Amino acid sequence: MEKIFVVDFGGQYNQLIARRVRDLGVYCEIIPFFKAKEILEKDKPNGLIFTGGPNSVYSDTSPHIYKEIFDLNIPVLGICYGCQLMAYTLGGIVTEASSSTAREYGKTPTEYNTDSLLFDNNTGISWMSHGDFISQVPNGFKITAKTNNCPVAAMENKEKNFYGVQFHPEVNHTEYGKDMLKNFLFKVCKLKGEWKMEDFIEKTVAEIKEQVKDHTVVLGLSGGVDSSVAAAILSKAIGNKLTCVFVDQGLMRKNEGDYVERTFTKLFDMNFVRVNCQQEFYKKLKGITEPEAKRKVIGEEFYRVFWNKIKENYSTGFLAQGTIYPDRIESGKGDAAVIKTHHNQVKHPADIKFIDVIEPLKDLFKDEVRKVGLMLGLPKELVYRQPFPGPGLGVRIIGEITEQKVKILQEADYILRDEMKKCGYAENLSQFFAVLPGVKTVGVMGDSRTYDELIAIRAVTTDDFMTADWAKIPYDILGKVSNRIINEVSNVNRVVYDITSKPPGTVEWE
Ligand code: XMP
Repeated sequence: MEKIFVVDFGGQYNQLIARRVRDLGVYCEIIPFFKAKEILEKDKPNGLIFTGGPNSVYSDTSPHIYKEIFDLNIPVLGICYGCQLMAYTLGGIVTEASSSTAREYGKTPTEYNTDSLLFDNNTGISWMSHGDFISQVPNGFKITAKTNNCPVAAMENKEKNFYGVQFHPEVNHTEYGKDMLKNFLFKVCKLKGEWKMEDFIEKTVAEIKEQVKDHTVVLGLSGGVDSSVAAAILSKAIGNKLTCVFVDQGLMRKNEGDYVERTFTKLFDMNFVRVNCQQEFYKKLKGITEPEAKRKVIGEEFYRVFWNKIKENYSTGFLAQGTIYPDRIESGKGDAAVIKTHHNQVKHPADIKFIDVIEPLKDLFKDEVRKVGLMLGLPKELVYRQPFPGPGLGVRIIGEITEQKVKILQEADYILRDEMKKCGYAENLSQFFAVLPGVKTVGVMGDSRTYDELIAIRAVTTDDFMTADWAKIPYDILGKVSNRIINEVSNVNRVVYDITSKPPGTVEWE
């Protein structure tokens, strides 16, 4: 199979590079720079892309690359730091920014040499983000682009298929960036670009069948996107040899448990086991108010209930998990050399011995997972579901969790979602929900004084959830939601809107 390795030097756009390559129909993996030698000894890709990174090639602590990588006869595209590193490793000169005026940030007019296979246009805008610059290219290289400040905005050694760009072709701000990546893949690496999601499904289904044979597979289904798509592809491969265990801990949104059950029992061939343990959870959570303590109890109780169920009947075959690619990408930052632990990769008790673990989505990015989900017939509503935290409404009820508070919050949240959907504003939001702060306030309804619960509405826009803006929802929509919540939900007499961004706030309230 055609394949590109993106060698990660710690830059911020690394996953974006891989996404772009895949969008162009070429399978792509990200590998950390310090593992490149070991990996390339076993596996030869059709091309390498060196990413950017925050360092200077002259620093002792900067990521470097072994020189023999350039003897493997594999085309290389170096981007930003990756370009400087290629120049430095092959004998060119990189000049430190402090001694020059060549620093460039942002959109920069650039002249390209169209003799290069990389460029189709003479001029265009490139996205720059660099201090150091290349002042002399290595022997055998020629300069193929420049800007007012940067003498080497691109360089290449055509005979050896080594290309470098000082700017970032992977970001949208680089006007012809996509064409440049395309040219690298199809003109330099001479690839065909035939990697498609349909092929992925077919291949994965065949692999699962081959691996599982007559055994059984158990999967923990949360109703989230990843585990749902994993369930769908496993069902296609092995039908009722698959058992999905769905733990309803009483902290889901209104009707969600029934919705998940209906979806998977009606649309897919599998054994669906719903563990109704709402009351057990409420009992365990009685009297607990501290946020971390609540999370801990919910997590531990989930672990206990889930694995007890599996131990009873389903522990003799394979375990499947909804791990996706970003859950397991090893960072090129060096200090983060361990694979991220993530909620998708659930540890299982040592006394359960599965034949093996199956992770059918482990090579896919989130939007690829969504595509696969739609192709397999999952409802759009489920595939494009907003993120929902593992501890569920438990982190949206401040203070002690009770069954009655869960009901109030579910109703208010349902109205919020219903209104947002009806007016179409939901599409502008990354995440939105209701919170029950556990604060009672005085109000007046009819002629009577009320002393009832407060509901807060939280809505954010964000690209990555690391930072987020509070959403500027029009007042008339907020007004309608507020009216409906107060009129339709018993025990609520006031609604407020949270206008805190992240930071300093977090998206969830606990
Ligand atoms: P915060 O509150 O940290 O949330 O700004 C960022 C994103 O993560 C989600 N979130 C969680 N997801 N388990 C999860 O699977 C959790 O414990 C958890 N806590 C927060 C949150 O909904 C938001 O999308």
